[in-house]
Amino acid sequence: MDSVEMARSLMGSSLAFHIIFATLGVGIPLMIVIVEIMYQVRKDRDYAIMAKRLTKGFGIILGVAIPSGTIVGVLLALLWPGFMEIVGQVIALPFQVEIWAFFLEAVFMSIYVFAADRLSPTMRIVSVISVAIGATASAVLITDAHAWMNTPQGFRIEEGQVVDVDPWAAVFNPSLWTTSLHVVSSAFMTGAFAIVSIAAFQLLKNRGDEKTKAYHQKGLMLGLMVGAIMSLFTAINGHETAQMLHEYQPEKLAAAEGLFETTDYAPLAIGGIVDEETGSVKYGLEIPWLLSFLADNRFDTVVKGLNEFPRDEWPPLYIHLLFNLMVGIGTILIVLSFAGLFYRYIRKRQIPAWLLRILTTTGILSMIGIETGWIFSCTGRQPWTIYHIQRTEDAAVQSESLGTLFLLFISLYAFLLLLTIFIMLFYFRRHPVRRELS
Ligand code: HEM
Repeated sequence: MDSVEMARSLMGSSLAFHIIFATLGVGIPLMIVIVEIMYQVRKDRDYAIMAKRLTKGFGIILGVAIPSGTIVGVLLALLWPGFMEIVGQVIALPFQVEIWAFFLEAVFMSIYVFAADRLSPTMRIVSVISVAIGATASAVLITDAHAWMNTPQGFRIEEGQVVDVDPWAAVFNPSLWTTSLHVVSSAFMTGAFAIVSIAAFQLLKNRGDEKTKAYHQKGLMLGLMVGAIMSLFTAINGHETAQMLHEYQPEKLAAAEGLFETTDYAPLAIGGIVDEETGSVKYGLEIPWLLSFLADNRFDTVVKGLNEFPRDEWPPLYIHLLFNLMVGIGTILIVLSFAGLFYRYIRKRQIPAWLLRILTTTGILSMIGIETGWIFSCTGRQPWTIYHIQRTEDAAVQSESLGTLFLLFISLYAFLLLLTIFIMLFYFRRHPVRRELS
């Protein structure tokens, strides 16, 4: 591997690790807010216990999200000096405001954790809502920098220098709101499905104990409701994101769909492998006209094909697989969550064991969706770091020693991941919910 590939691998693996905790760090606070409100409305002690246990889990997640986020920040400066030179002059604003969002989250988190028992019901809800607002604002602000990389504006490059900087134009770049909505809603749904997975698993394990069973049923139903709403919302704003690609990054959409020739009435390719030699998608299912319709709500919309662009500006063609995985997972999760709700509220029955078994996979499926979404968005922008402005090879550091660093960091992430799982299991096994319920 050359040093650019090494830098990409190191940055990619660091982001892939951080994103697990950053996503749960946005999704879990929303669930704590909902559980806390349920407690205040119903005065059901199960919800107070649930909020407390979720907060403990959230504390552990935050303990990994903060250092791994710091590593990502340091690596940005170390590995991408060319990129940071432009970022520092054009889009530093969201990073600076993010520090305030983090303070808001940290201060109210401390109040909620250490003084929850002494707070009035209103103050409990205010503090936990402030934690969720801080976490969500952080996500939007950091996503803004990513959105700007895809649809950059607010500056020009003249003879290698950054000129005519307009920080507000950079902040309010065209994909800010669509991308932020997609990122935030997919994080909310991942938080919800993480709880669905745990509750489904516990229900399968604790069939005899009625109190514990009732507790996990409540967690399961709340998770399914939020998961169903958020997965639907993610699919709807994902569709808007795809329309953004049609307008602003057409070669990414073309590679995502394996479309080589520019055409109206373009077909949507589901599955299969994009074959450059034949200029088609092999073994896939083609739905006539659908891509044109999805791109701009009309069947005669002209969708640009890859042949419209120089070969060295094509994104890697395997992003078709990533796109299919993300959308496929989104579809499966909508079906599963509505199936669970259907059993409980329409058929008025307990969710059967076979469905509970499937529901245990929803948390991990969501996380795979998050990872594939990010990889799709970032590798789909290649060969650019800043779309049509800075190539990745011009942004990266030139260094021979990245291989050792890569191995060191991979080992650190593996260790941290195992440690986090161990701490979670250790804590929750030492404090079983059965004991708190009695
Ligand atoms: C169900 C239909 C979905 C559609 C149509 C869709 C569409 C898209 C598109 C077009 C992008 C690329 C945006 C860009 O490069 O500018 C994207 C990115 C992304 N997607 Fe999805 N998506 C869907 C489901 C999901 C699901 C289920 C998840 C997570 C569980 C998810 C998580 C992400 C993430 C984290 C990104 C990267 C951030 C971004 O650039 O927006 N998506 N999605």
